[in-house]
Amino acid sequence: MAADISASLDPSEVIRRVLMRAVEAGKADRGVLLRVEDADTVVEDYHDSAGVRDLIGYRHRIALQPLMRQAVRSRRPTIGGRYEVDRMEAPLNLSLADVKHTATIPLVLDGEVTAVLVLSRRQDPPFLPDDLVTFQLIANQAVLALRNARLFAQAQAVTRAQSDFLNMAAHELRTPLSVIAGYVSMMEDGTLGDVPGSWHLPIETLRAKTAELESLISELLIASRLEAGTIPVHHGVVELREAAFTALERVEPRANLLGARLRHRFPEEPVQVSGDAEQVVRILDNLLNNALSYGSSPQEVTVTVHGGPEPRVEVRDQGQGIPAGERDRIFERFYRIEDPARRHVPGTGLGLYISRELASRMGGRLTLDRSLPGKGSTFSLRLPPA
Ligand SMILES: Nc1ncnc2c1ncn2[C@@H]1O[C@H](COP(=O)(O)OP(=O)(O)OP(=O)(O)O)[C@@H](O)[C@H]1O
Ligand SMILES: [Mg+2]
Repeated sequence: MAADISASLDPSEVIRRVLMRAVEAGKADRGVLLRVEDADTVVEDYHDSAGVRDLIGYRHRIALQPLMRQAVRSRRPTIGGRYEVDRMEAPLNLSLADVKHTATIPLVLDGEVTAVLVLSRRQDPPFLPDDLVTFQLIANQAVLALRNARLFAQAQAVTRAQSDFLNMAAHELRTPLSVIAGYVSMMEDGTLGDVPGSWHLPIETLRAKTAELESLISELLIASRLEAGTIPVHHGVVELREAAFTALERVEPRANLLGARLRHRFPEEPVQVSGDAEQVVRILDNLLNNALSYGSSPQEVTVTVHGGPEPRVEVRDQGQGIPAGERDRIFERFYRIEDPARRHVPGTGLGLYISRELASRMGGRLTLDRSLPGKGSTFSLRLPPA
């Protein structure tokens, strides 16, 4: 039962399962889960074999029901007859009118009765003191499942708030940054008049740092859109060699600057996969830039495209490699390896996270296939054949 109840983390689904299992285990006709709000109980959800509906949200005073009062006070399951329906309003009184026996099971979360489970039978036999052990067991498991669901909901809310914040911050930063980038490029190309020779280095640094900020902001935006589920991923046909070629062309200037060698091994025939060309190039771009950033010198990076039933692109470098303990973590959001040798490389730790998410949205997989510290790494992007 525990496994079944905790299989879901969606709070309302968990509550539904808690109820169904409790009704089953207690051989009851009806089960209601009430949350406790100050001096009241409020119907959260219920399961009734007679199919009674529309009780959700119904509020009732704990003090008006002796069985409920006793259970909440003692924090122990309490068995008894029917509730006092004449003190209830419709439709709750109607749905309880033919109930004969009840078991009132308080659920204690963090030292407080936060919810109560009420099981009822319309016919004999009554609930017996022997059943109390079963009820306590049901209560313990229900509390555990509800606690997990609640923690999960809280964690999700935090993630949502974080990605909303990222999205907003990135948007707000983009406008002033584009103004800065505009002036820097005007200084650089002489539109603003001649600049003294001693300004060339500072202007070049300004330009490079502005570009760094621009790429950071665009990563933040993509990450927050991925989390909000608003990034468009088109499902088209992509020729892997073409995508790899575009990505190679894009990093070529940087490779030349670093004195790195880019090599490619492509099959003769086209390799068609299903995916979004723009996103495939974006992933390869991230892999190639990592290969250049975390490289040895002189760095050599090889891009290999494989066709066949399992099409893939491999990006291999001969750089620093990734320690065994970090191989899964590098795909996490904002994760960067803490290592003095890498500290000079600017970055946010979003590249691989974004790339893996995009790959999986296209039905593919991004993996680190091999990595040896000091010898280099091989990343593979696999996509479904078109
Ligand atoms: N080819 C590689 N060789 C060695 N280490 C790598 C390689 N690729 C990634 N890493 C390590 O994994 C970490 C995470 O990479 P990721 O691309 O996600 O973020 P980043 O490069 O730090 O920042 P950015 O978001 O700008 O890409 C890097 O900080 C780096 O230490
Ligand atoms: Mg990176």
